[in-house]
Amino acid sequence: MGKDVIIACDFSSAEETLSFLDGFTGRKPFVKIGMELFYAAGPEIVREIKKRGHRVFLDLKLHDIPNTVGKAMAVLSALDTDIVNLHAAGGSAMMRAAVKGLTRADGTRPLLIAVTQLTSIDQQTLENELLIDRPLDSVVMEYASNAAASGLDGVVCSPLEAGKVHEVCGKGFLTVTPGIRFADGSSDDQKRIMTPAQAKLEGCDYIVVGRAITAAADPVAAYDRCCAEFID
Ligand code: C5P
Repeated sequence: MGKDVIIACDFSSAEETLSFLDGFTGRKPFVKIGMELFYAAGPEIVREIKKRGHRVFLDLKLHDIPNTVGKAMAVLSALDTDIVNLHAAGGSAMMRAAVKGLTRADGTRPLLIAVTQLTSIDQQTLENELLIDRPLDSVVMEYASNAAASGLDGVVCSPLEAGKVHEVCGKGFLTVTPGIRFADGSSDDQKRIMTPAQAKLEGCDYIVVGRAITAAADPVAAYDRCCAEFID
């Protein structure tokens, strides 16, 4: 899989999601399904979106004991997802169990990426609540290295971290980056943002775009603009 734009379909029902995707005539955008939609609509929404020919990033951020995560990953793999993820904080035994659980009988498996530190965690929270007494960016790189050593394919990270992740973990290690906005758009609640064109220059592999597309007056035009800036 090469560079692509993934639309974060942060909707609360299958109907809303499918009617949104119906608008994309002649295009099959890569779709991210997060907790809200998955918990509301269940595995059937993944099957339906896959049946319509889209690729799916199932963003459920698993974090539990290795045995439980391994078995849950086997279920997600059977859903024919393309990318799934977990929290690197679960440790390398959990990450290796996830890779094993995801791997199908024929040796294929979805791509598996790790969340290092959530972008909602700042240095103060890291130190005072998670009791990690290290600079946040070094924790992110250490977790990314653990993920790479455990056989994962990449990380979810800020576009500002993508270059460093590639330096530390290699160019082939995927960077999937939310926090994308158009130069003339609203930043909403995202603090560290980049445009699709800047994300391309940073070497991001996939950009995850939600409201800049879903809340646009013309979502298809916004999607096309993202692709033109990031891929073409
Ligand atoms: O609407 P917006 O483009 O901000 O949506 C970004 C998407 O990426 C949302 O689904 C959000 O949950 C997700 N995400 C994020 N930051 C992270 C991890 C995931 O914005 N660190």
